[in-house]
Amino acid sequence: MANTFEVKNPATGEVLQTITRHSETEINDKLQAGYDAFHTWKKTNAHYRAKLLTKWSALIQDNKQSIAEVMTKENGKPLTESLGEVDYATSYIDWYAEEAKRIYGRTIPTHADGKRLLVTRHPIGLVAAITPWNFPAAMMTRKAAPALAAGCTFIAKPAEDTPLTTIRLIELAHEAGFPTDVVQHVNGRGSVVGKLFTSSSLVRKVTFTGSTPVGKQLIQQSANTVKNVTMELGGHAPLIIAEDADIDLAVEQTIASKFRNAGQTCICANRILVHSSIRDIFADKLTEKVKELKVGNGLEDNVQIGPVINKDGYTKIANQVDDAINKGATLLTGGTYDIDNEKETYFVHPTILNNVSDDMDIMHYETFGPVAPITTFTSLDEAIQVANDTPFGLAAYFFTNNYKIGTYLSENLDYGIIGWNDGATSAAHAPFGGMKESGLGREGGSEGIEPYLETKYISIGNFLE
Ligand code: SIN
Repeated sequence: MANTFEVKNPATGEVLQTITRHSETEINDKLQAGYDAFHTWKKTNAHYRAKLLTKWSALIQDNKQSIAEVMTKENGKPLTESLGEVDYATSYIDWYAEEAKRIYGRTIPTHADGKRLLVTRHPIGLVAAITPWNFPAAMMTRKAAPALAAGCTFIAKPAEDTPLTTIRLIELAHEAGFPTDVVQHVNGRGSVVGKLFTSSSLVRKVTFTGSTPVGKQLIQQSANTVKNVTMELGGHAPLIIAEDADIDLAVEQTIASKFRNAGQTCICANRILVHSSIRDIFADKLTEKVKELKVGNGLEDNVQIGPVINKDGYTKIANQVDDAINKGATLLTGGTYDIDNEKETYFVHPTILNNVSDDMDIMHYETFGPVAPITTFTSLDEAIQVANDTPFGLAAYFFTNNYKIGTYLSENLDYGIIGWNDGATSAAHAPFGGMKESGLGREGGSEGIEPYLETKYISIGNFLE
């Protein structure tokens, strides 16, 4: 088994770096080092940890341009999106630098004389994170920042497609003053490292962003050591446009949601449900705008859609588009590809499919590509039924200016994140996470530090009254 892997630019095929995978012994040594470091790190005070986090964030911002360039080179997303992701990544560090100071316990009114009842909060231990290629900076800091703020030690395994951003961020964490064993990374295959992380009794928490099948496997593997797990898994977001919606706003926000990172996000709109009375006007306006999106190497000016990450990603997208067309969908734009199998570069032109029906794969499986399928509904309950008819429950969007319709949809859509007239919901200070098979737990917001904390109850007796 090769112990190295190449990190390639998905826009050009250029090999950016060859990386050596850590051996099983090296990974176990790192876990031991992280476990040992926990015993001193957990004793640091919250304000000190906050200061280090603030310094880390500032160093990342000082290096924003070079980090964004590395991200675009390894992931393919347009440079403007990478620059935005650096800000998004540091917003998690900034938020949890503040939250570190608010890890409060409580006292409980007692049931008996001479007693005092206290609740205190403690870091959970060594945290192992498996992070995805689609947001190589923000998904790592969304896990590392609350873990470190809570007093946990942290080890990350970045995706093999995009390890360079993570490695750079961890170097900067050390430069900021985090001890090397407190924040670490390992390189290796997901299946190998995942097994070591989940089976090690030194690791108290596993946090993962990625696909639902892999998440299920990690949950199963974590059962033996009863680990705390946070799982940010797949989505299949419906985007509902009600009869009264502001169509121009719906078009603009659909594009923001659907085509961010070439449609390679877990929360991007994957099924567009439009009221039948406005379908044609919405579809026309959307098509007109989508045709203007520029596809290319993300380092070039004005490019809005980069390549998809790899051949598997492209194949899945192309199969869904073919399946929909074969079953009667109409192509309003796109459906074309610039691929070079030798260089392994895969560009998918932004695609809109009309007259999509329930028998098509795209209505049931996450696409992870720049393809917008449009279908219609005639009643709100029909839209809700279709929207909820999936094992996933990460993000849902709807467009209406009618408060009764909006409230009804908010209350009846079984999703962890709801965008109402909003296609860009993510924020460090808000909880991100899904219902059903989209995951367990939340990241971001005041909720996002909870999974890194244990609760201890202390009952003290024999007080003088
Ligand atoms: C994701 O797609 O997994 C994350 C998107 C976000 O945080 O906005």
